[in-house]
Amino acid sequence: MGQYLDQYKLSLEQPEKFWATAADSIDWTKKWDRVLDDSNAPIYRWFTGGKLNTCYNALDRHVLNGRANQAALIYDSPVSNTKKTYNYQELLEKVSRLAGVLTDLGVEKGDRVLIYMPMIPEGVMAMLACARIGAVHSVVFGGFAANELATRIDDAKPKVILSASCGLEGSRVIEYKPLLDGAIELSNHQPSNTVILQRPQAKASLKKGRDIDWASAMTDALVTDCVTVEATDPLYILYTSGTTGQPKGVVRDNGGHAVAMMWTMKNLYNIKPGEVFWAASDIGWVVGHSYICYGPLLNGSTTVMYEGKPVGTPDPGAFWRVISEHKVAAMFTAPTALRAIRKEDPDCEHIKQYDLSSMRALFLAGERCDPDTLYWAKDKIQVPVVDHWWQTETGWAIAANCLGLEEFPVKAGSPTKPVPGYEIHFLDDAGQAVPKGEMGAIAIKLPLPPGTFPTLWQNEKRFFTSYLETFEGYYETGDAGYQDEEGYVYIMGRTDDVINVAGHRLSTGAMEEVIASHPDVAECAVIGVADKLKGQSPIGFAVLQAGANRNEDEVSQELIALIREKIGPVAAFKIATVVKRLPKTRSGKILRGTMRSMADGVDYNIPATIDDPVSLDEIVENLKTLGYPKSV
Ligand code: COA
Ligand code: AMP
Repeated sequence: MGQYLDQYKLSLEQPEKFWATAADSIDWTKKWDRVLDDSNAPIYRWFTGGKLNTCYNALDRHVLNGRANQAALIYDSPVSNTKKTYNYQELLEKVSRLAGVLTDLGVEKGDRVLIYMPMIPEGVMAMLACARIGAVHSVVFGGFAANELATRIDDAKPKVILSASCGLEGSRVIEYKPLLDGAIELSNHQPSNTVILQRPQAKASLKKGRDIDWASAMTDALVTDCVTVEATDPLYILYTSGTTGQPKGVVRDNGGHAVAMMWTMKNLYNIKPGEVFWAASDIGWVVGHSYICYGPLLNGSTTVMYEGKPVGTPDPGAFWRVISEHKVAAMFTAPTALRAIRKEDPDCEHIKQYDLSSMRALFLAGERCDPDTLYWAKDKIQVPVVDHWWQTETGWAIAANCLGLEEFPVKAGSPTKPVPGYEIHFLDDAGQAVPKGEMGAIAIKLPLPPGTFPTLWQNEKRFFTSYLETFEGYYETGDAGYQDEEGYVYIMGRTDDVINVAGHRLSTGAMEEVIASHPDVAECAVIGVADKLKGQSPIGFAVLQAGANRNEDEVSQELIALIREKIGPVAAFKIATVVKRLPKTRSGKILRGTMRSMADGVDYNIPATIDDPVSLDEIVENLKTLGYPKSV
């Protein structure tokens, strides 16, 4: 009999006892006054009165406790042909100096610093340097375009931006500096300085007085010590897609986050200090924050930063090479990456060249793992394949097979059971529990556990309206699914306009706003359709302005280019089509769900309230021309 049930019950029945015990794994400058502060419910805070420094816990204490020479970060970059290992002492020295660079530029506790970096060690150093001086970092994913970057600059108002001259996408060099310059030009807020790391693959031109060369700044800077912060002070802001073009600034605090990260490394991932953990994600996503940077380092483990793709850098054996070369104990990736490998190497021939004996488990998240991919991975890799469900907002898993507590049999299509700390409910529109086995909106009873977001950056109103209003006393996840008789949960899709493309969370609402800005477009709809490789991919439908005498194919191409320019290549928006009208209800609601079912080739009902049933025929026709429905 494992520990899961006891721990799960304890976490819900006596959360203060449960989390106070977990908090012993962190070095505090001052212990908290209250474990759970409910004085301002439904806004809850954890460990109020407690003081600590996250960077101290991630680096300094390990150096002091005998891990100075242990590998902290392994950088493996097939795209730049580089491999480099930093031990804890070396990483601490780099981070302390970078903290000095920021201090020299006037960055103080509470100031924001934006990080727009590729997958290089300096990205993690930048995050930790901010944490060291109590500055709040906001990392922006490199695949976002200048416009998206500008939105985040205006919201976070960073004093300084840390960036690099370029990112490497396979064999392509993506220059970051023109994107950054463009974003600063577009934004109202102006950072005082940028610090630019010059990579050998591209040289960025620096603007005198504003842009500073990273390498020379590091030479001049002094090593800088940790600043003590409140447990409830923000550690970072991470923007994520909502239903509109304005992204949500998810806030993470210091104390609860550190405690939750430590708890998951042991109890969920079952990783000990000194072992190697590899999250093949990007520091621009929450997975990168939690499990490339903070989780493994807080735990005294070794983290791997991989700058490459699952395929093409150079072949579909890349993941297996990294696992064997760095003796990875557990790996984390998105199902889409496995589908990409399987597509190129269906029999997984490449794996035969490598010794994967170090590997104990493979963790998947970011999108629903289809059973086919799960079976394939289990068969080829021969270790437990653990799907787990979480969100940027929570920062760590809501449902999982907690290997450190008790390993449950895997059921394909399910991320297993609620993780301690989370009381998951499946509700109907009226907020009533649906029977076991029936689909409902997934809500989590408040309070959310430590490490989850306490609010949205300077937008408490949106925090309430987006998450707390629909079901009183609950956090609305935006996901729908069901629970079976044995308590396994199944996450089946979103209840809002968020789609998941290649494990990247994107807003169809944001894409619609961009398409609607085209001068010839009167109205539009973007839907996410099933995609064999990427899970979902977006398709745009546009109605042209009356009198716009335009070639439809040309307009479609312009719309594709516009989304790439305004949102970025990561939107993977490759299909647009022009229609005469969009199917709507009589009250004017676009029937996106019906359109999606048509594209996916699944059964659909035509609502009785449809305004003009003929409009559906044109959608079917256009989809057919585009090759939909496909057999997925
Ligand atoms: N900087 C600049 N451009 C980027 C980028 C970055 N950091 N990341 C992606 N892009 C670009 C890609 O080059 C591509 O451009 P293209 O349209 O010119 O080809 C576009 O954005 C779409 O990227 P992506 O969706 O990643 O597609 P892909 O075909 O390059 O790769 C996969 C497909 C499945 C291999 C890849 O998406 C993958 O590894 N996904 C896993 C994602 C993941 O781990 N997510 C973690 C969240 S848990
Ligand atoms: P993000 O905030 O980018 O991590 O995306 C979170 C969303 O991705 C969730 O709300 C889900 O819709 C989806 N998601 C993440 N992990 C899973 C999973 N294991 N199974 C199903 N959906 C998932």
